[in-house]
Amino acid sequence: MSTWPEPYRIKMVEAIRMTPKEERLRLLEKAGYNLFLIPAEAVFVDLLTDSGTGAMSDRQWAAIMRGDESYAQARSWFRFYEVVKGITGMEHVLPTHQGRAAENILFSELSKPGLVIPSNNHFDTTRANVEFFGAEAVDLVVPEGHDIHARLPFKGNMDLGRLEDLLKAKGREKIPVCMLTVTNNTGGGQPVSLENIRGVSALCREHGVPFFLDACRFAENAYFIQQREAACKDMTIPEIARAMFACADGATMSAKKDGLGNIGGFLALRDGALAVRLKNALILREGFPTYGGLAGRDLEALAVGLEEVQDQAYLAARIGQVARFGDALQKNGVPILEPTGGHAVYLDARGAFPHIPAADLPAQSLTVALYAEGGVRGVEIGSFMFGKKGHDGEFVPAAMELVRLAVPRRVYTDNHLGYVAEVAGDIVRDRARFGGFRVVDEPPFLRHFTARLAPLPLSAP
Ligand SMILES: Cc1ncc(COP(=O)(O)O)c(C=O)c1O
Repeated sequence: MSTWPEPYRIKMVEAIRMTPKEERLRLLEKAGYNLFLIPAEAVFVDLLTDSGTGAMSDRQWAAIMRGDESYAQARSWFRFYEVVKGITGMEHVLPTHQGRAAENILFSELSKPGLVIPSNNHFDTTRANVEFFGAEAVDLVVPEGHDIHARLPFKGNMDLGRLEDLLKAKGREKIPVCMLTVTNNTGGGQPVSLENIRGVSALCREHGVPFFLDACRFAENAYFIQQREAACKDMTIPEIARAMFACADGATMSAKKDGLGNIGGFLALRDGALAVRLKNALILREGFPTYGGLAGRDLEALAVGLEEVQDQAYLAARIGQVARFGDALQKNGVPILEPTGGHAVYLDARGAFPHIPAADLPAQSLTVALYAEGGVRGVEIGSFMFGKKGHDGEFVPAAMELVRLAVPRRVYTDNHLGYVAEVAGDIVRDRARFGGFRVVDEPPFLRHFTARLAPLPLSAP
C-alpha cells in the first residue's frame, strides 16, 4: 500500500491562514528575522516544536470534564498515579507542570559543583538545570550520532566504552546520576536500543550510580525498538516500555510530548528516601505532591494520553508520517539528517545553502526563507543557536547547521507536510536568491530566543 491512513478521523478543525507574502516579509523585518518573535496567527504550518502542540482525543477532552480539583488526594491524582506507575513500575511519582520543572527538582538535590552528570545528549533544559546547580553535564553519544548521513538504526545510543571509562575515572562519589534521553532530541530524535539501555543500566549498577531516563518520547523510542531490534520484534509497545523503565532507577518526563498533553510532566523514582527530599522541593516550587504543577483536569487528560500514545496503530502512523515527510523533502532535492527520527525532520543547511559560510548563519537563512516563501515556521539549530566566540574572539561554528521541522502529534496531514516539502524544494533549487544573516542585537544567554538579525547583502554571482 502506498497510503497510510491515520487511525482516527477528524471531529473538530481549526482554521489556519496563509498570509500574503508582503505581510510575511514585513513581519520578518519587524521581528528582527527571529521566528520566535513572529505571531503564531501569521504562520501557516507551524513546525517550531512538537512540545505541547499536539491534538487531544475525544477521550482526553471527555476526561477533562471529570477533573477533580480537590487540593489533596484528588480522584484525578490517583488515576494519573496508577497510569504512570503502571508504565514505569516506579512507586514514587511527582507531578510537575512540565519537564524542566522535574529536572529542576531532581538536580536541586543531585547536582553540585565538582560533580559530573553523563547522558547520551543532555537536552538544553536538562543541561541548563545540571549546570545551574553546579555539576558538569557530559554528552557521550556514540560517534555515529554525529554523522548526519549514516543510515543506522540506533544513532541515539550511549557510547558504553566512554561511559565505563568515566565511571571508572570518577566513581560514585563524583557521579550522582547518569541520564539517558529517549529518543535523543538533541541528536535528531534518534532512538536508543533496548540493548543499549540495558548496557547503561548494567554499568551504572556495577558502579553504584543511579540511572534515570529522560523519557519524554518513551513510546516513540519503544516503537523504534520494536521495528529495528530483532530480539524485540514480537513484543508489544507497553511491554517494551516496561522493559525500558525496568532498567532505570528513575525518570523525568515532559508529558507535552508522549503524554499527548498540552502541558504537564512528572518525575518518577524507586528510592523512597530521595523521593521524600524531592517532594519537599516539589512543594516549594510546584505545589502539593498530589497535583504538583497541574490542575486535576490536566492529570486526567495525561492519564488518557499516556495510554493512547502506546497504541500500535497510532505510533505506526506517527513515525510513518515523519518518515514520509523526510522522503518527500529528499525527493524535492532537500538534504536532511538521516534516517529521520521520531518527532522531527532536520534539514541540512550546509548541504542546502553551500554558498553561505557558517559565520553568515546558513541555517537561519533557510529558516527565514521557509517562512518568507511559504509561511512555514521551523527552528534553527546551528551557529545562530550554538555558535560561540573562541578565546581570541574568533567565531567558532556549531558542529552542524540544521533546521528542525518538528511535527506536532495528530495535527497536520501528509498534505500539509507535502506542501512544506515543495516550498523547501523550491528554495533549495533557487538557492542563489538567499543570502546570509548577521546578529545585530543579542542577550547574554540563549540568544536564539530573542536576538535580532539583519540580512547581509547578496554577493554577486
Ligand atoms: C528530551 C527533552 N527533555 C526535556 C525537555 C523539557 O521539557 P519541557 O519543555 O516540558 O520543560 C524537552 C523539551 O523539548 C525534551 O525534548
